[in-house]
Amino acid sequence: MSTANSTMPKHVAIIMDGNGRWAQNRGLPRAAGHQAGFQTTRDIVESCARRRIDALTLFAFSSENWGRPEQEVGLLMDLFLRGLKSEVSKLNENNVCVTFIGERTAFSDKLQSEMLTAESTTENNTGLQLNIAVNYGGRWDIVEAAKKLALSVKQGDLEPDDISIEKFSSAVSLTNVSDPDLFIRTGGEKRISNYLLWQLAYTELYFTDVLYPDFSDDDLENALTFYAGRQRRFGKTGEQVADKHA
Ligand code: IPE
Ligand code: IPE
Ligand code: MG
Repeated sequence: MSTANSTMPKHVAIIMDGNGRWAQNRGLPRAAGHQAGFQTTRDIVESCARRRIDALTLFAFSSENWGRPEQEVGLLMDLFLRGLKSEVSKLNENNVCVTFIGERTAFSDKLQSEMLTAESTTENNTGLQLNIAVNYGGRWDIVEAAKKLALSVKQGDLEPDDISIEKFSSAVSLTNVSDPDLFIRTGGEKRISNYLLWQLAYTELYFTDVLYPDFSDDDLENALTFYAGRQRRFGKTGEQVADKHA
């Protein structure tokens, strides 16, 4: 485990929260907030690519968000479908590699096929790794990993005693990137809301009151400045970490 205190995060994970309140504050329907949030996402992806951040993981739809009014869920699905169709070629031009995490079989065939198209179109790109969490839940992720490992045991490929942190880490989502260095939640709530429970074990957590549609490049800069000021100790003492050879 590295104790290096690089000033730039390699991997940023964001909970994009506050779209509904942004719209309500303006007397607009929640849909307008989601639409505005979509624009923010385009800008943030571009900002992260420009800053040469390796990976960005966005929470777009949680496994619990199905519990929202049917109309809002439908609208989010529409926006998602339209967004994928309209953005993939630009993402591809910008060398962004897109992948999705979450239980995607719950989505319409059309949406699943657009997700596959986005992934296959961009799979050889070497720029920003963009992971989009859809119908994702941290507990679901851990349970799925447990199922995979249990199956390996059942098939005789793995001994129960050989189940380790490393084995578990390679069975949960996001094996294509290192764990997030910086977590950002917009919208003022200070909670994880069942996001990357396993992967956030040692992530630096940054919370801002800014509602997601208002989250700008300057706000991202503030989060990066917060990150640059942290000393990541991973359980060691500050002195050990300050001395690179400890
Ligand atoms: C986040 O914004 C977007 C999704 C969950 C899809 P919200 O819609 O949760 O906005 P608030 O929290 O109600 O303001
Ligand atoms: C978390 O936001 C999920 C996404 C941003 C996709 P929520 O708005 O669903 O979280 P809670 O309900 O406030 O915890
Ligand atoms: Mg919310």
